Amino acid sequence: MTSGRPDPALVARLLRQRREFGHGPLTLETLDRSQALSLAAGRGRASASEALPTTGDSTRESDDAGGPFAPPGEYDALREAALVCTRCRLAKGRTQVVFSDGSPDARVMVVGEAPGANEDRTGLPFVGRAGKLLDLLLASVSLSRRDSVYICNVLKCRPPGNRDPRSDEIEACSPWLHRQIELVEPEVILAVGTFSAQLLTGRNMALGKLRGEVYSYRGTPLVVTYHPAALLRNAGWTRSTWSDLQLLRGVLDGS
Ligand code: URA
Repeated sequence: MTSGRPDPALVARLLRQRREFGHGPLTLETLDRSQALSLAAGRGRASASEALPTTGDSTRESDDAGGPFAPPGEYDALREAALVCTRCRLAKGRTQVVFSDGSPDARVMVVGEAPGANEDRTGLPFVGRAGKLLDLLLASVSLSRRDSVYICNVLKCRPPGNRDPRSDEIEACSPWLHRQIELVEPEVILAVGTFSAQLLTGRNMALGKLRGEVYSYRGTPLVVTYHPAALLRNAGWTRSTWSDLQLLRGVLDGS
């Protein structure tokens, strides 16, 4: 990798090597503002096929029988397959799989943590109190799930009692998310909350330390911020969240 923008071919080779050596799922880097804007403008963006093994992070992915797990590469087929997923224990307790809301053509993709009770009941992500706040936050930068945002979660099924996602559940479920991102091809990703931010940045750090920068998720600019549910508990994070959304808007506008 040279200074400045990463060379997609080198990134692809590095990813392949990491797979071969059994390293963790993601290779990411922090971008400075001009690199992020350049990615957002489509300059130097590695295509999914260049930068990725086609099955996503396949060193850690396997189907129920222990073989390689390759989620379908076509959006409707992906959704249909995910809706009947039994890859982890959460399948037993769910009412339904919560796959997404918004348009797969959206410019912005929001990735939350996991469905709660309302989402499990309705089949749509972020429909409870946290969801209402998310909608307001998005509206503050002229975005909406109806027109411009695609919303989904790291986990597609509700953890019992809304407990935190477990690492094996994230591992089992994340191939769906990686493929969703690959197919939706958002211009910018917004990860809300620790689990989503850590998974997509590949960094095991507190959210307060992660936020405030633009990352690259496989060539797509990625901004991370507090989960709206956390914001409901701690209004002190509002200013930082506002500034993260401005950062997102700036990347989207190329300014
Ligand atoms: N919290 C999330 O992270 N996702 C939802 O869909 C609802 C609440």
